[in-house]
Amino acid sequence: MTPARGACGLFITFEGIDGSGKSTQCRLLADALRDAGREVVLTREPGGSPGAEQIRRLVLEGDPDRWSAETELLLFMAARRDHLERTIEPALAAGKVVICDRFADSTRMYQGLSRGDLRAAVDQMHKLMIGREPDLTLLIDMDPSVGLARAKGRQGKEERFEDFGVELQEKMRAGFLALAQEFSNRFRIIDGARPVDAVAAEVRKHVDEVLA
Ligand code: ADP
Ligand code: TYD
Repeated sequence: MTPARGACGLFITFEGIDGSGKSTQCRLLADALRDAGREVVLTREPGGSPGAEQIRRLVLEGDPDRWSAETELLLFMAARRDHLERTIEPALAAGKVVICDRFADSTRMYQGLSRGDLRAAVDQMHKLMIGREPDLTLLIDMDPSVGLARAKGRQGKEERFEDFGVELQEKMRAGFLALAQEFSNRFRIIDGARPVDAVAAEVRKHVDEVLA
């Protein structure tokens, strides 16, 4: 896919392990930028468009062994393609700030690393079907036991990945930190084990640098 380049919008993604505070920080950033007069689209993955939200239910609910690693990868990619076509690209083309709770880096980690090594397949499919990287990625880093306790405290139905346990989250944390080195031009690492306001202030500092 060739995305519509050259538009003046800004694409910001949040990444990190489950429960690290991404959704909280996405909302706070969206509110702050709207208060500052920006047009903001706040969205999430998997999901963010009607079709992708349907796929979200398939991948996040039910038995941890419901899908093979390869099938799961195809489902996440299908959801992303729909989200990109219907939500992200139109908003960027209209010059808006898009804030997305997880994006392709989560696939590089969760499908690319967690059950065998599918990273090369993830990268090839991304190039072929998505072809868009964020302008800025904020990695909320923290100890997995804290993150998992926070995530479990939510008591939702979407626990397929959380049910893989703390070892998976440890692997994801290390993987995200390595990914931040690999894509150091767009990644910023933020310590998430601090009060919400302190994390939000650092998020805002990085975003302001890019907006300037
Ligand atoms: P994520 O989207 O990364 O899974 P959430 O933003 O949903 O994380 O946060 C998980 C839980 O932790 C929520 O109950 C949220 O209110 C709480 N939380 C978020 N940020 C913090 C923080 N900095 N300190 C303490 N609790 C937090
Ligand atoms: P999310 O709702 O962001 O969970 P949390 O708020 O607990 O961080 O994402 C749900 C799960 O989906 C999360 O465990 C990570 C997983 N996921 C993937 O495995 N691959 C992907 O490409 C994406 C976007 C998410």
